[in-house]
Amino acid sequence: MEEGEREEFNRYLLTMRKFGVREIFVSDEKLGLKRDKKEEKCVEDDTTGLNTTSGLEDRKYEQLDKLKSEVENCRMCELGSKRKNAVFGESSYDAKLLFVGEAPGADEDAQGRPFVGRAGKLLDRLFNVLNIDRKSVFITNLLKCRPPGNRDPQEDEIKTCTPYLIRQIELIDPVVIIALGAYPARFFTGSKEGITKLRGKEYRWRNWIVIPTYHPAACLRNPNLKKPLWEDVKSALELVKR
Ligand code: URA
Repeated sequence: MEEGEREEFNRYLLTMRKFGVREIFVSDEKLGLKRDKKEEKCVEDDTTGLNTTSGLEDRKYEQLDKLKSEVENCRMCELGSKRKNAVFGESSYDAKLLFVGEAPGADEDAQGRPFVGRAGKLLDRLFNVLNIDRKSVFITNLLKCRPPGNRDPQEDEIKTCTPYLIRQIELIDPVVIIALGAYPARFFTGSKEGITKLRGKEYRWRNWIVIPTYHPAACLRNPNLKKPLWEDVKSALELVKR
């Protein structure tokens, strides 16, 4: 199997897995396995990871790690040469809840981690209140590099950068995506409406449920927005538990 075919095959397997398929039979030659005649067992050459029970999971982690280093070396737009650190996202590759913010700010750029500044502290408080372990979710952004002076993401930057986000979503395969703020909300809904119109409802983006809500930074400016943010994340949590 060629590298490209292998990637396509793995994507197909991940989709099958999502629909509950746990076993699949493929001939050894197609997988690039040589059969050891004497012992009738498969020997090396298996880069598909299919001959282990956790092969699919291993491949997923590998692919996410590979994607992370692609993001960290990306120079596809001008932001790549201005950043201190690209911010791939964290924490769990098995997350059921995936949060998408706008772009790293100064603190995130300095540390290479998402939501570690003031907005991040508010998000952490929300996690505390709702009993969500930050290590069990995945937090990332529409853009992986900081726009200078925290300006709004530009259309061409969103277009160039979001294939990374899409690949993260495909591999992590969460139950619900929470879009924090207008830019991620518009990206997933295709709407040009403001966040107040879009928030708190369920949308479908490809295979995934998306719930747009207020960005924590907006809640710092206007504390009245905290309650709806809390409620929206709580409803996402209920969908996950269902
Ligand atoms: N704001 C964002 O949108 N993302 C971060 O990571 C931090 C602040």
